[in-house]
Amino acid sequence: MPGTVIVGTQWGDEGKGRFTDYLAKESELVVRYQGGHNAGHTIVVDGEVFALQLVPSGVLYDYVTPVIGNGVVVDPAVLVAELDMLGGKGIDTSRLRVSGNAHLIMPYHQELDRVTERYLGKNKLGTTKRGIGPAYADKALRVGLRVQDLLDPKIFREKLDLVLREKNGVLAKVYNRLPLDADEICEQYLAMEPRLRPLIADTVHLVHDALEAGQRVLFEGAQATYLDLDHGTYPFVTSSNPVAGGVCTGAGVGPRAIDRIVGITKAYATRVGAGPFPTELPDGDAVGNLLVDRGVEFGTNTGRRRRPGWLDAVMLRHAVRLNTCTEIAITKLDVLAPLPELKVCVAYEGEDGTRYEHVPYHQSVLHKVRPVYETVPGWGTEIDGAGRIEDLPDAAREYVRFVEELAGVPVSFVSVGPGREQTVVLPRAA
Ligand code: GDP
Ligand code: IMO
Ligand code: MG
Repeated sequence: MPGTVIVGTQWGDEGKGRFTDYLAKESELVVRYQGGHNAGHTIVVDGEVFALQLVPSGVLYDYVTPVIGNGVVVDPAVLVAELDMLGGKGIDTSRLRVSGNAHLIMPYHQELDRVTERYLGKNKLGTTKRGIGPAYADKALRVGLRVQDLLDPKIFREKLDLVLREKNGVLAKVYNRLPLDADEICEQYLAMEPRLRPLIADTVHLVHDALEAGQRVLFEGAQATYLDLDHGTYPFVTSSNPVAGGVCTGAGVGPRAIDRIVGITKAYATRVGAGPFPTELPDGDAVGNLLVDRGVEFGTNTGRRRRPGWLDAVMLRHAVRLNTCTEIAITKLDVLAPLPELKVCVAYEGEDGTRYEHVPYHQSVLHKVRPVYETVPGWGTEIDGAGRIEDLPDAAREYVRFVEELAGVPVSFVSVGPGREQTVVLPRAA
């Protein structure tokens, strides 16, 4: 079964979108399986920038069917705006299919995301405030509205009335906010139905028909391993399962549908929002500033400055396991060019001096570990024009080899710039 998964091995923004776009050229279907418009995937084609939140990154090829799977949470207004944006750039989006089982993000989800963050004060998670957590919570509570409900105004209204009573009670009585109006919500959401109706489908059938026909299906993860609800740095995580296992529930396939899992790994690390980050460089650190400046490490989505740090091979090794990665792709190697030496975290040291080769499961330990670094030489020249691995300076190739050894699986690709053509394919991946 020819299914490939793209999954982030860090805290997001590793460059999943650009690699989905790269691998989409040899795929027939590209399927998002979780998350929502908290994602921001940037693709650069011939200098033109496409910033996508909901539509899978395969949309840029006219022979690819982009699919929004049942595991995604959809804000229909954002989807319509994204379709308009793509249409305005000459991209045909008529092939997009959206699962009728995907849950809708409703106005009260966004409002609750905002007020609960405010309520948490200094303990806030730093969410994207897109309503993601509250929408997944309602899915689990079985009071969510789904994309298919847009097709039946009566049912939509009934479900909304039921849930809004409770939401308005909470908004008014707990958070001192004005109640939301069911008429307004209905009007706003149902007005989008004619636009969305042709796109709504049984995407599970679509995916299985494609797999059975021997077509190549690419599953595009949003967020990343350490933002996973079960395996990430809880509670500083998102509310879905970005790990490769999430494909099974979020797209409706069994594990045997997947034979390739590409872990996307930035050559250094970043994190947006709160939560532990063992290799984080302190505020004002010259290397951290260089990584942010050269890597343009500001959220595609919220514009927030990403927290920078060195590559963490303890986390990488664990991510390779959690996702059963068959390989990894190293992105943004070009960003490291001016640095005379590079650090890679190979283990942690706990407060009491204990050495950890694995990510400690206990959050009080993880929050306080110190990284144990190995230092390797930098290469000191720009590499953004490299087209083949032989074009890279020895020290850059050595860095790739070192990361490969630490990850325990082959490196298939290295990217040296945001453009499609700035992708170095390692011989065994060709
Ligand atoms: P995603 O969320 O994992 O898809 O990643 P984002 O798109 O949010 O963030 C990655 C950013 O790095 C985007 O602005 C990309 O255009 C850019 N990018 C991706 N690969 C490379 C690379 O190899 N080098 C450089 N300099 N930028 C890259
Ligand atoms: P892509 O797909 C980086 C982070 C938020 C916050 C936490 C929870 O572009 O890699 P949420 O709004 O999901 O409830 O926020 O998760 N976060 C991301 N960080 N890249 C993303 O997506 C993210 N999506 C969510 O900053 O810390
Ligand atoms: Mg991103």
